[in-house]
This record gives sequence, structure tokens and C-alpha cells, in this order.
Amino acid sequence: MAEIIQLPAPQKDLDFPLMQALQERRSKRVWKDEALPLQEISNILWAACGITREGKYAAKSKRTAPSACNSQSIDVYAATKEGLFRYDEKGHQLIRVLAEDIREHIGTQKRMQSAPLGLIYVSDHSRMIMYFGKDEDKKMFFSGTHAGYVSQNVYLYCAAAKLNTVVLGLVDRDKLHSIMNLKDHEKVIFTQVVGKSIDK
Ligand SMILES: Cc1cc2nc3c(=O)[nH]c(=O)nc-3n(C[C@H](O)[C@H](O)[C@H](O)COP(=O)(O)O)c2cc1C
Repeated sequence: MAEIIQLPAPQKDLDFPLMQALQERRSKRVWKDEALPLQEISNILWAACGITREGKYAAKSKRTAPSACNSQSIDVYAATKEGLFRYDEKGHQLIRVLAEDIREHIGTQKRMQSAPLGLIYVSDHSRMIMYFGKDEDKKMFFSGTHAGYVSQNVYLYCAAAKLNTVVLGLVDRDKLHSIMNLKDHEKVIFTQVVGKSIDK
């Protein structure tokens, strides 16, 4: 059975003005050589696309990030020194996918590979079949927009929590796809690295 790491509840009472977070949101490419505490990882993942309203009966839950027809196509994977994990929003937990540290593949820029946390945004196109049928162009377009919302949520949380982050389009997506053992309908969109600010 896959190893599961239960995350502590996200700290939703973080008191930081939204307008200030927008003002301070920045791409930052330096970080301390230190792992992020589990509480921080919990907050980041919940901010990314955590559940904000449970689904009742047949209705789907709602997330911090919007998605076309509420298709929730994005899965967020977390790459750390300890391995690769998939974020399970429902249980607010990490499910181990790989035992290896794959951060050297998080981006093609060498500097990014030292970040303690690499987020990989994967869009599951099978979740959009009902809405967009076989139109792969449309699905790719929505995958990009979905990942953008998730990524901006992480940016804003990082601004509020004084963490450094940058989103990465310079990624060998095929390589990551193969290392992560993804299926054909699961597409790596882009990645994002996070680390502690060197001023903190
Ligand atoms: C889709 C996307 C891909 C990006 N890819 C990279 C990247 O591969 N490497 C990098 O250093 N920055 C990357 N960036 C960050 C941009 O360089 C950055 O957002 C831009 O310079 C504006 O700076 P700011 O985010 O601080 O406002 C990317 C940004 C976006 C939105």
C-alpha cells in the first residue's frame, strides 16, 4: 500500500492583506538550503487547490482554484528530498509516488534544482472528456489556464508567508512525464519551486 503522509490542517487564519500580497508577489530565484516544515507544505498545497467546500451528494467539491466546468483537471505533485508525492485534496494528505528525489528534473535551469520543494502541475485530460470530447487543443488550452490559477494561488500565499517562489516553463516535460510514470492522458503543464526566503 502507498505511504500516506497526513498533512496538518492548513492555517487559514493567516492574517495578511490580500492587496499587500498582490503588491509583493514576485518571482524569486534564491532560497535557504533548508527543507520546508510540513505545516508550510500543508499551507502551500491547500492554497494551491485545496477544498473550500465539500461536495454534497452527487455535487463535486469546490477548490481554491477555479476550473472549466469544475473539471478540476490539475493534480499537484510535490517533489522533495524525500521523494515524489501526489497531493490528495480530499484527505489533505500526501501520497507517495516515488522514493527517489527527482528535483534535478524540476526545471532545466540548474539553480532551480536546489529548491527544497518542487511543485509539478499535471492536468488529467480524462477529467475533461465529458465537456470537450476529443478536442485535445481545447483541453490543452484549459489545462494551461487551470495550472495558471493554481500557480497564482501559490504565488500569493508565498508573498504572504514570506517564501520565495518562481513558476517554471523551462521544463523537460517529456522527461518528467516518463520519470513520474504518468499515463498518456496526464500532461505535465509546468512546475513551480518554493523555498525559504534568505531574509527570513
Ligand atoms: C508560464 C510562465 C513560465 C515561466 N517560466 C520561467 C522559467 O522557466 N524560469 C524562470 O526563471 N522564470 C520563469 N517565469 C517567471 C517569469 O520570468 C516572471 O514571472 C516574469 O519575469 C515577471 O516577474 P514577476 O513574476 O516577479 O512579476 C515564468 C512565468 C510564467 C508565467
